Amino acid sequence: MIKIAGIGDIHTAFDEEDVSLFNSSDYDLILVCGDLPGRSHKQTVSIGSMLSRLKRPALMIPGNHDSTTVRQLLGEITGSNRLKREDPKMPGRVQELRDALGSVQLGGYTIHRFSKQEGWVDGPADLDIISARPHSMGGPDIGFAPYIESQFDVKTQEDSARRILELLQNSKSSLRLILAHNGPSGLGSFPRDIWGCDFDPDRGDFGDPDLESALGQAVDTDWAPQVVLAGHMHHALKGGGERTWYVNRNGIHYVNAARVPRIFRENGEKRRHHVRIELDRTDVQVEQIYW
Ligand SMILES: [Fe+2]
Ligand SMILES: [Fe+2]
Repeated sequence: MIKIAGIGDIHTAFDEEDVSLFNSSDYDLILVCGDLPGRSHKQTVSIGSMLSRLKRPALMIPGNHDSTTVRQLLGEITGSNRLKREDPKMPGRVQELRDALGSVQLGGYTIHRFSKQEGWVDGPADLDIISARPHSMGGPDIGFAPYIESQFDVKTQEDSARRILELLQNSKSSLRLILAHNGPSGLGSFPRDIWGCDFDPDRGDFGDPDLESALGQAVDTDWAPQVVLAGHMHHALKGGGERTWYVNRNGIHYVNAARVPRIFRENGEKRRHHVRIELDRTDVQVEQIYW
């Protein structure tokens, strides 16, 4: 079995103690769903440096809060074209995050081949991780569209779905996992659903349509993934309660790891959340861990 730690939206909650716990764990691989900071890019870079101290192969996909500004986020939320316009400094901020992460890989329409014996490899692997569209905001629009178009030549959800599907088809491993910031649409009819919209129930499903489309074309083929790991839609619901964090549909295990805050106090004790995924050709096991 390959043992994977899935860390959901960090939002500043990752410290020295996490580094030593993960470095002394039995995990083969660490996957981070993005959203490192509170509000500032400085926090993204400092949490990125903390992640760089992990002594296991690790990979992160950027979230909507990573390397973006409050002005950009406001543009995405309000739909204001003036605020949404291209930010020429965004590629530089992404590079600063990449530099801070050191040997931790930064995903975005990429394939990462993992060998249990050798770590990241170029050739045949035990597990291929396909990283989906970076900086997703969720919902029908492509978040940070000018950046996504200039960096990846992706203009529409259809372009994006094609890119994700091509990556799946290029996988030569029999085990595949998709790492995304937000999960696919199609599983979120209700606010409490795994990627349902709790902050505005009228918007129903807040999953990514490109990912749903790619998965729809991959399901029941030789290139279907076994697992989709993402975050973004935090577990705690507006108005109270917790969303579903795990769904098994058509043989694919969907995991939402975004327990926010991931470090919290319970009965006076500090607890740290992540998701444990173990998989091989015949079996997938998923559980939430509170250290
Ligand atoms: Fe988040
Ligand atoms: Fe997010």
